[in-house]
Amino acid sequence: MLNRRNFLSSAVTSSLAIGAGLAWRGNLWAQLESLPAQLPDRSLFDQNEDAYWREMRKQFLIPADEIYLNNGTVGSSPAPVLRAVFQGYETGEKMNQADPEDYPIWGYAAWNEFRDPLAGFVGCNRDEIALLRNATEANNYIANGIDMKPGDEVLMSDQEHPGGEHPWNLKAKRYGIVIKKFNLPKPLINPAQVLEVVQAYITSRTRVLFFSHITTVTGVVLPAKELCSLARSKGIISAVDGAHVPGMMRLNVREIGCDMYSSSPHKWLQAPKGSGFLYVRDEMIDRLWSTIATEGWDEPQLRAERFQRIGSSNVPALWGLRASIQLANDIGMDRIEHRQRALCDYILTAMVKRRAISWTSPDPKLRCAIATVNVPPIVRMDLENWLWKEKKIRIRGGDPNKLRLSTPYYLSKDDIDRFLDAFDEYKKSKA
Ligand SMILES: Cc1ncc(COP(=O)(O)O)c(C=O)c1O
Repeated sequence: MLNRRNFLSSAVTSSLAIGAGLAWRGNLWAQLESLPAQLPDRSLFDQNEDAYWREMRKQFLIPADEIYLNNGTVGSSPAPVLRAVFQGYETGEKMNQADPEDYPIWGYAAWNEFRDPLAGFVGCNRDEIALLRNATEANNYIANGIDMKPGDEVLMSDQEHPGGEHPWNLKAKRYGIVIKKFNLPKPLINPAQVLEVVQAYITSRTRVLFFSHITTVTGVVLPAKELCSLARSKGIISAVDGAHVPGMMRLNVREIGCDMYSSSPHKWLQAPKGSGFLYVRDEMIDRLWSTIATEGWDEPQLRAERFQRIGSSNVPALWGLRASIQLANDIGMDRIEHRQRALCDYILTAMVKRRAISWTSPDPKLRCAIATVNVPPIVRMDLENWLWKEKKIRIRGGDPNKLRLSTPYYLSKDDIDRFLDAFDEYKKSKA
């Protein structure tokens, strides 16, 4: 085990000796040292939920006076995750493992010690999971790996992220497949609206239905199970971009019934950046080509492991991924989801009261922890910059007037009130 106190003191000493360049290292360890070593007791949740979440907030390096409403882009890895990453480095970098063959350690491994907890968390078998770097990479595996002829169609929504859409654009340009896009109403009022429009777009050439489970544009939670069932009934492959889902809400890929599912747990699960995954339903694995080929690419018995054979890799990120799953399980995914939904409802209601135009679904089943509102004539980038420079509040938006507000569990209602006060102040100054 890493002895952080020793490390800290030696790091401080050496940083004094070597110069200011190394000082920050000691500082990061010192910061981690200063965070509570234990998570708040679960019983605190029953006594005082807000106090429990306030304690949990202390696990994050985000400064206490900063309000981070952009978890939808990237999360912030909390102390247990960072500690695990460092332990991964400490364990690996000594190069003194019992087995002198380094490859199974840094690549070409089943990594079941990481796939098992992830498979349990998302509801599938380890053999259906490939550990990749993020949803973009996983989406590329999907688009590159499915056999399609010129003229074959992929159907997707008009709210796909570039990391979901462009792999198909590349395939269209290179191989002549056809991309068809269906429009999602803003806001989506009920599941029937999307099911009807998808149904209407399906043709005899449709081979793949690709959509975000939660879209980047509006944060709408699409009825993934129903959409996948529709695709299956027509013999169409269903591929779901779930970048936002693990850690935002409970996920069970089997219940959804999709053929493939990609994700970026660095967002809502607060896993390290560079730890993503691709799920491929067992019956589909043999139909998917690998994108990166090295030893193992053509060995079907490896199942989805063959998609994670990418050469040497950043294994400590996987240590962090495992710790982030452990953390979510320790807190309880139901509690996390409940908290995130409540905060989202709170900020949405407050913004609608301020006459913001909501693109967030009025149906609670079709929204979770991302609220998207438009606030014309306020220019979102001006507001974004002002909030950060003047108030230490980070948001994200879309041009010209859209604000995308993410509500992870570690925020409090006070944080949201501070954002709302700042928003009011800015609005008044522009009146
Ligand atoms: C729906 C969706 N898919 C894919 C991505 C890309 O994520 P990453 O950069 O982690 O690959 C995002 C990022 O915001 C997203 O919202």
